[in-house]
Amino acid sequence: MRLVLLGLPGAGKGTVAETLVATYGAAHVSSGDLLRAAVADGTDLGVKAKAFMDAGDLVPDDLVVAMVVERLAADDCRAGFLLDGFPRTEVQAEALDAALAEHDASLDGVLYLAVDAEVVIGRLTARRTCADCGRVYNVVTLKPAVEGVCDACSGRLIVRPDDEPETVRQRIEVYGRQTMSLVTYYDDRGLLIRVDADTTVDAVRSAAVAAVAGLASAG
Ligand code: AP5
Repeated sequence: MRLVLLGLPGAGKGTVAETLVATYGAAHVSSGDLLRAAVADGTDLGVKAKAFMDAGDLVPDDLVVAMVVERLAADDCRAGFLLDGFPRTEVQAEALDAALAEHDASLDGVLYLAVDAEVVIGRLTARRTCADCGRVYNVVTLKPAVEGVCDACSGRLIVRPDDEPETVRQRIEVYGRQTMSLVTYYDDRGLLIRVDADTTVDAVRSAAVAAVAGLASAG
């Protein structure tokens, strides 16, 4: 399975990816996670990306495309991958199509997690992320067993720097300007599957699993 998860910041891409990866075993390729790792490691890419990320802007296409294409060449992506947060511009979408075509491959589907901007503002300001393993929680809808502590690794839960309200608003504005058009891009290619993401975590996860099962049986 070669899939893309598309949706506003806070739509639930990472949350749904966790379930899809556990269910279908595809490699989870999150451009945001890769960039945060590069920032934490202080690599050239991380140094260049940090200011864009802190401001809630997109990291330039050439940097992100090179990073993701290299990641997709890794062994664990051969059996399939789930792209989370990439592509985010039409330039990135075309680069992905071209990179896959080089291997006579193409996407199987694009899951679009549809939710309104007002909903994601609330979700992102309540999000907590494990500083060690990156697992995502929510102080309202997805609490850890022990407040402030990751269930999976006992790491400390933090507020992501770009989840501050002003940066969240900028990320939503950037999504509308630079990413939203991908809904039409993939719909025109017959790849878009709309999932209602304005419901409970469990319901969204189940709908996503069912959507992918439908793709598998159709293919
Ligand atoms: P990235 O890390 O990709 O962030 P994002 O797309 O803004 O998405 P988020 O991780 O914020 O949200 P999500 O949809 O995964 O939601 P989650 O599941 O966590 O990117 C960060 C930055 O990196 C960008 O701003 C940019 O600078 C750069 N970048 C990354 N990719 C790039 C690219 N391709 N090109 C250029 N730059 C790039 O859920 C959110 C919260 O809601 C959680 O607390 C969760 O528990 C809760 N929740 C989830 N689902 C539900 C539900 N159904 N009901 C209630 N609560 C829910």
